[in-house]
Formats: sequence, C-alpha cells, structure tokens
Amino acid sequence: MTPPPAQAQPETRAQDGSDPRCVPFKLSAPIPVGDEIEYPDYSGEDQDVWRTLYARQKGLLPGRAAAEFLTGLEALELDRERIPALADVSRRLNGSTGWRIARTPGLLDARDFFAHLARRIFPCTDYVRGRGELDYTPAPDCFHDIFGHTPMIMHPRFANFYQKIGLAALNCRNPAVEEALTRIYWFTVEFGLVRNPEGLRIYGNGIISSYAETQFSLTSKARKHPFIADEVARQPYDIWHLQGDLFVVESFEDLESSFDDWAARNALA
Ligand SMILES: [Fe+2]
Repeated sequence: MTPPPAQAQPETRAQDGSDPRCVPFKLSAPIPVGDEIEYPDYSGEDQDVWRTLYARQKGLLPGRAAAEFLTGLEALELDRERIPALADVSRRLNGSTGWRIARTPGLLDARDFFAHLARRIFPCTDYVRGRGELDYTPAPDCFHDIFGHTPMIMHPRFANFYQKIGLAALNCRNPAVEEALTRIYWFTVEFGLVRNPEGLRIYGNGIISSYAETQFSLTSKARKHPFIADEVARQPYDIWHLQGDLFVVESFEDLESSFDDWAARNALA
C-alpha cells in the first residue's frame, strides 16, 4: 500500500513528485534503533528552526490539542531549545509503551515502514526542514515526526492501534482494502480528532505539526463526522488542500476496538 503523505500539501507546490525527499526508498540493511542512533552534527540554524517551530506550535496547543497528546508531550520532556536525541526519545517511549525509534534517512518504502510499526518501532527522521519551509515541508522531518507523532505513541491504546495498523498492512493483499486502510491511517494517525470532556480536540499529527491545519481543523469550515471505520474507509481525501472532512473518535479504546472489528471483517487481523 502507499503510505499517506506526511501532511496535506498546498497546491502551490509542485505535484510531480520531483522533490527527492518524496521518493520512498527500500531498505537494503537494518537502520539503527534506540541507543544505536547517533546524535547528528546539527548547525545552529537547524537548532534555531526547531526552537522556532516548537515555540510557535506549542502556543497553539492549549484548547486545541487532545489531553492524551499533551500528557504524552509532557512525559517525553522534549527539549524545546535543542533538537531532541532520537535515542533519548526512544528510551522514553520504550519505558512507557514498549515502542522504540529507528532513525530513517527519509521516506521509507511502504512495506519497510509498516514492518517497523508491526514491531512497535517508529521510523523517525532526524533532519529538520529549512527556514523557508516553516509552514510546510513535502516529506516528514524531525519536527513532524518527533513533535507530531511521538506524544501519541506514549498513549497505551493509541500505541496498540498504531502497531495494529502495521500488522494489518502487512497482511493486506487486496488493493481495495489497501486503499481503505490508507484512508483509515490518514483520518486517524494524521488527521484524527477525539472528543475530550472539554470538547473536540486534535490528536492527528498531520494537524498538530501544521500551523495552518491546527487553526483550521476545529473551525466550522471543517466538517466533523463520527468515526465509523466503514465510512472512513470510503472517504477519499485530497492532499492538496486543508482537510474539509474530519472524523471524531469518542476515545482511544473505541478507536482500537473499532479497528480490531474492521480488520477482522477484512481478514487483516
Ligand atoms: Fe506523519
């Protein structure tokens, strides 16, 4: 199956896939995991971009981000001044939900990506976008991956669900079901909303790592639908615009059990 892009992509950008960061590659050797990952020699500019992105996005989270995301973010103790070491993030994930991080040099081939998820390993980039791409980058970078993805992997039920997506993808042989699974990934992992007691909140990291999507997603311009796996599986998405249709889970227990049921009915469990 084709993994969904990291985030919705503005139509002002080239759509021909010419950016080398958008070309997935197939692994020919294992990639480093956990303590095997070395800290890169980041420039002062890299660190400044991280600082800028972190401060700007963190300021948007109160009243918008899910309690589960904020709890994970706090427990991770990510450094806001300096790009976190993936080995440190991996250790905290491992201590919380048994997940670890592998350092990927870029966008992985879908099968390699899902094979890692199935083993509770999150392939994570360690390079950061340039200052000219603060609002948008066509492929994952470490701000999207670390700030956006890892807090939810600290949540036990989401962590289970995320592994099950990987397992289901590896079991999938039917192109129509593959497309349905890609849609479920898109509308949960990347663009999911959850109903907290205080109201609708964001947990999808395609929203939470994007300045524009974070502000747009909770407005009335984005239509909200209850999360029903069969309906999500039928919902196309458009990666070139802000997401006009979003799905709301009542809890991560519900998300995991709904997905279990859908995967079983589609012979993926
Ligand atoms: Fe992502």
